[in-house]
Amino acid sequence: MPYTPSHQRYASMEYRRCGNSGLKLPALSLGLWHNFGHVDVLENSRQILRQAFDAGVTHFDLANNYGPPPGSAEENFGKILHEDFRGYRDELIISSKAGYKMWEGPYGEWGSRKYLISSLDQSLRRMKLDYVDIFYSHRPDPNTPLEETMGALDAIVRQGKALYVGISNYETPEATRAIQILRELGTPCLIHQPKYSMLVRWVEESLLDLLEREGVGCIPFSPLAQGLLTNKYLKGIPAESRAAKPHGFLKEEEITPSRVEQMRQLDALAQERGQSLAQMALAWLLKDPRVTSVLIGASTPAQLTDSLQCLHHTQFSEDELAQIETILQGA
Ligand SMILES: NC(=O)c1ccc[n+]([C@@H]2O[C@H](COP(=O)([O-])OP(=O)(O)OC[C@H]3O[C@@H](n4cnc5c(N)ncnc54)[C@H](OP(=O)(O)O)[C@@H]3O)[C@@H](O)[C@H]2O)c1
Repeated sequence: MPYTPSHQRYASMEYRRCGNSGLKLPALSLGLWHNFGHVDVLENSRQILRQAFDAGVTHFDLANNYGPPPGSAEENFGKILHEDFRGYRDELIISSKAGYKMWEGPYGEWGSRKYLISSLDQSLRRMKLDYVDIFYSHRPDPNTPLEETMGALDAIVRQGKALYVGISNYETPEATRAIQILRELGTPCLIHQPKYSMLVRWVEESLLDLLEREGVGCIPFSPLAQGLLTNKYLKGIPAESRAAKPHGFLKEEEITPSRVEQMRQLDALAQERGQSLAQMALAWLLKDPRVTSVLIGASTPAQLTDSLQCLHHTQFSEDELAQIETILQGA
């Protein structure tokens, strides 16, 4: 069936300014790490993307290695983009990254200028795009001068292959230096992409303060801890879940009885708030104005529908926040 985007697509989404930049991002963005590779069902991936765009999700996040096999999420996304979203490129923010292992030999990973520039060229070919909106250094490289990695990002913008650049998985000291180098080069760091959820909270120590001070946006990834922060594992491991899939990054060992009990308590609190646990976990991140957008994953259109409803209720009482802390510390 040919796709016509909903005319209501901008009616209910909230858009937040990304740091001090001119760019706004939707409060929820969609990541293609899982569920968009050649191992997945293309029509399901297509439905998720259509539904996201219909709901005002204008930002899709990729990386060179997403699949499996690596590169296949970009290939599938490029196919769907050209079949379904032709004519809507200017309504989309598409990001990609390089940093993790993508090809054999000394130039296929980390942070050299050689790797970053050739990897982005490959990503553009896979997605059949002239440029991405945001290109990230996916992880810091301890063996390459930060000046070289940031210089490559600056060059990529000057070559017209990306409109903005960002960093991901950089801890506060290296993020501080990266932001400074990029500013000196005249290509400000748009955004930082760290792992952040109720279960992973290192960014609260100093990273969020740094980003606010420097006018850099923040887009937390794995906000549902890959599905742990939902009601799906309360009664065992469902066959279709990420934890059950051989290529899934969530491992069965992470679903311990004490973790499940914690999720049960959070789920009860979410129900009192009139939300699913997934919705509460996303709303909990969005309550912080330093969070520009929350980067979710979804394996079905129904999950996306569920998660999007978090936007209806992002306020928390002091009492609810205290109860959440008590549950989280009880693990
Ligand atoms: N920069 C980095 O290093 C990095 C690393 C990881 C991820 N990311 C980015 O962040 C994005 C999101 O990561 P993530 O997929 O781990 O995010 P997530 O939102 O924490 O987990 C998504 C998974 O949770 C389950 N789920 C989602 N919504 C649900 C709902 N409403 N009810 C029940 N279950 C639900 C699904 O798992 P099932 O498959 O079990 O159904 C889904 O695949 C990635 O796609 C990628 O773009 C970046």
